This record gives sequence, C-alpha cells and structure tokens, in this order.
Amino acid sequence: MSTPEPAPAPETKPFAEIPHNGLFRALRMLLSAGAARRDMLTSLTEQYEALGPVVVQIGGPIRFVNLFGPDANRFVLMDREQIFSARRPWTQIMGRIFPNGLLLRDGADHKHHRKIMHEAFTRPVLRDYAERMGPKVSAGIDNWDAAGSPIGAFKAFKALTLDLAASIFIGTDLGPATRRMNSAFEDMVAASMSRLRLRIPGLEFYRGLKGRAFMLGFLGGMLEKKRADQGLDMFSRLCRARSEEGDVLLDGEVLDHMIFLMMAAHDTTTSTLTSLTYELARHPGWQQRLREESRALGIELPGYDDLDRLQGLTWAMYETLRRYPPLPVIPRIATQELEFGGYRIPGRTMVVVSPIHTHHMSQWWTEPWRWDPDRFSPDRAEQDRHTHHWIPFGGGAHMCIGRRFAETQVRLVMHQLLLRYRWTVPDGYRMPIQQAPISKPLDGLPVNFAPLQ
Ligand code: HEM
Repeated sequence: MSTPEPAPAPETKPFAEIPHNGLFRALRMLLSAGAARRDMLTSLTEQYEALGPVVVQIGGPIRFVNLFGPDANRFVLMDREQIFSARRPWTQIMGRIFPNGLLLRDGADHKHHRKIMHEAFTRPVLRDYAERMGPKVSAGIDNWDAAGSPIGAFKAFKALTLDLAASIFIGTDLGPATRRMNSAFEDMVAASMSRLRLRIPGLEFYRGLKGRAFMLGFLGGMLEKKRADQGLDMFSRLCRARSEEGDVLLDGEVLDHMIFLMMAAHDTTTSTLTSLTYELARHPGWQQRLREESRALGIELPGYDDLDRLQGLTWAMYETLRRYPPLPVIPRIATQELEFGGYRIPGRTMVVVSPIHTHHMSQWWTEPWRWDPDRFSPDRAEQDRHTHHWIPFGGGAHMCIGRRFAETQVRLVMHQLLLRYRWTVPDGYRMPIQQAPISKPLDGLPVNFAPLQ
C-alpha cells in the first residue's frame, strides 16, 4: 500500500496581501491622533476583529505591522531567530532625549550593559532598597487627608515616586530641586512623543532637550563623589558595578543609564499606583479585604520578603497591570525578512505587539473588561493559560530589569495607604485615561482620602 502524499505546506503570502486598516481608517487616525493616544485599545480591537492577527496599520507617513495575540508576543519578544531590533524603534522614538539607555541597545552590546547593571538589581540589593524605602513612603503619604477634599492622586504619586527615585537611585533628598527635576522629566517624556523635533525655543522638543541638559548637569556634578564613595544608592552601585569579566561603565554611560532608569521607573510605577488606587476606590470590598490582609501582616514597614505574604495585594497589582499596562504597545524593527501568520514581512519593517490588546482577549481571559484580581488566585490561575498573554513587563532579552523593584515599591506604598486611609471616588465616576505613551488619567484622578479611626 502506498503512503499518502504529505499535504503541501500552505504558501506564505507576500506583504502586499496583508490586510491593512484602509485609507479611510488611516485618514481618520491621522485626523484624530490625540484620540488614538487616548484610546489605543478600541482601534487595536477593531483591527483584530475585522482583519485578523496580522495587520498593516497606516497612520499618515508611518506604516507598521501589528501582530496580535500571545503567540505573536512570544515570537517577537523571545526573538529566538534574533531578527528583531529594540534599539532601532526606541532610538527613533526617544533616542535624542534618552540616548544609550538599556532599551536602546541590541545584541552583544545590550547583553554586556545588562550584565553590568544587573549588579544594582540583585535580591540582596532589592532587600536593601526596600528597607530604605519604607520610612520614605511613610513620610511621603503624610497629610493626604489634610485638604478635607479630593486630591489629585496622579500628581501625589508622581511626587512620591520621584522622591523615592531621588533617594534610592541618587541617594539624596532633592528638596527644592524636586520641582525642577519633575518638570525636566515631564518635558523629556513629552518631547519623546513630539512630532516636530526641532531645536527651536518654545517648542516641546526644545524643552525636552533642556530637561536632559539639566539632568546631565545635575547628575554629572555628583559623579566624582559617587565614583569615590561606597554609597548604597543605585547611582553609586552603577559607578562601581562590574560584570563577571570585570567590565565597568564609563562616566557617560552611567549618566545615560541613570537618566533612562529614572524615567523608566517613576512614570510606570506612578501609572500602576494611580490605576490601582482607582480600582480599589471603585471596589470598596476589595479595599477592605486588602486592608485586613495588611493588618494581619502585623508589620508597618515590611521588608522585601514580607511583601509576598500580601497575596491579595499582589493579585490586585497584577490585575491592574493587566487592565492598564503602563506600556500599551511594544515596538521592534525587523532586521531581515521574516514569516509570521502565513505572511512574509520584509526586513526594516516596524512590527508592534500590544500588551493592552492581548490583556483584553476573551479567548484568554474570562470577562476581560472586569477588574477581577481573583483570576490570579491558584484556583483560577488564568495567567497560566499561555506564557505570553500577560506581558506588562515585556519578555525575552529586554524584559523589564526593574520589575521586582517596581513590584516592591507599589506594594510598599499600597500597604501603608491601606493602613492609614480609606479612599473613595464619587459615585459613578469613571477615570478618563490617556493610554499612550504611558497610561495616565486625563483628570489627575481626584480621590478623597479619609483617616482610619
Ligand atoms: C510597573 C512598572 C513597570 C512597567 C510596567 C515596566 C514595563 C517595561 C517594559 C514593557 C519593558 C520592555 C520594553 C521593550 O521590550 O521594548 C521595560 C524595560 C525596561 N524597564 Fe521597566 N517597567 C516598570 C518599571 C521599571 C522600573 C522601576 C525600572 C528601573 C528601576 C525599569 C527599568 C527598565 C529598563 C532599564 C528596561 C530596559 C531593559 C532592557 O532593555 O534590557 N522599569 N519595562
């Protein structure tokens, strides 16, 4: 008996046959660039539902390919074939404002820098950061009830995380420099999204360059001392960090890493804290459950290892990162032709995966629009359905180096807030969100903090 012929492999289709979002949609997106920044999820969901998992998105002069779903996330982020560059897209986006940051490096160069920087993120070092952060958090949330009326939670968290960054990263209390540094970072992040990238006074981009110059001057002035002392802050640690091979960072490299780290750290944790505060205000039952958990811990200033005992708080944080990933999309540029989902994609194409979209796919999450921390409990463990359908911290070689630091900070702050205050938002309030470049509330999130008896 003859064996049947194997079925011919399905042919991969050329780039030109990839469904695209159409001229009408492209025009609509161009005209409503602001709206797209505010609500990326709607546009991404529309594209996926109408056109499938591989879609060319045309938005004015920019053309890129959206790859949807956890398999795409794994393919792009794990990059087993080493075909994707993180350096190229991130350099296009923020290279003039945050040059040489870890995310703006590829291949062996990236590996080399990441190995040296790892020294500042090991478990014993994180334990030390946590210990030093506790009292700062405690002082930083004093008087949040003093106004007797709602305060802007986003602004309050931003000031707090910047203070923490100054103290843990730079090893100094900023005092009057806080405001200048805050506005420097705001200007730099805004400039990295600017369309008009000209060095002309008055323009957003120019303000970003000035912000960078301020940070270089501020940190550069401390470099000699940091090189000499045995400080425990991240700046000092980066100054003396060595890879196993004995490599160290040069002065300019330390400064560039510090500026990038502070940006990457404080906007993302501010975003997470704000969204979590909002959801706990809307779910007073959860707020009370977490308060009781924090009380049961019996420690006002928990250490790094105590925080994992706050199980409910950890699920609530993970669920918040699912619903509101601070980084909604992750770009790469293909360095050579590739095949995915039955299509050929030429080299030099920008390819984008979307945590925010995957986190709301009903194939992977039960009632994805519901904020439901119990989905992370061992009984339900929805996060175990795929390796790459929960990716707030990315994945692969560029997976967030600050993940454990961020998780520590968010839980330390929340734990202390839960022990000190009960907070609310007005009935029926819905937080208006701008999802890109980093998720944040458009109205600053007014929250009423009341002291606990
Ligand atoms: C909730 C908070 C945070 C979120 C959601 C977050 C998210 C991410 C994501 C998605 C990436 C990967 C981007 C890509 O692959 O293109 C990333 C990379 C990175 N993050 Fe975070 N991040 C957070 C906090 C932090 C903190 C606290 C630090 C520093 C202490 C930090 C430092 C970095 C650095 C240096 C990279 C680049 C890593 C590399 O290229 O090897 N992040 N982060």
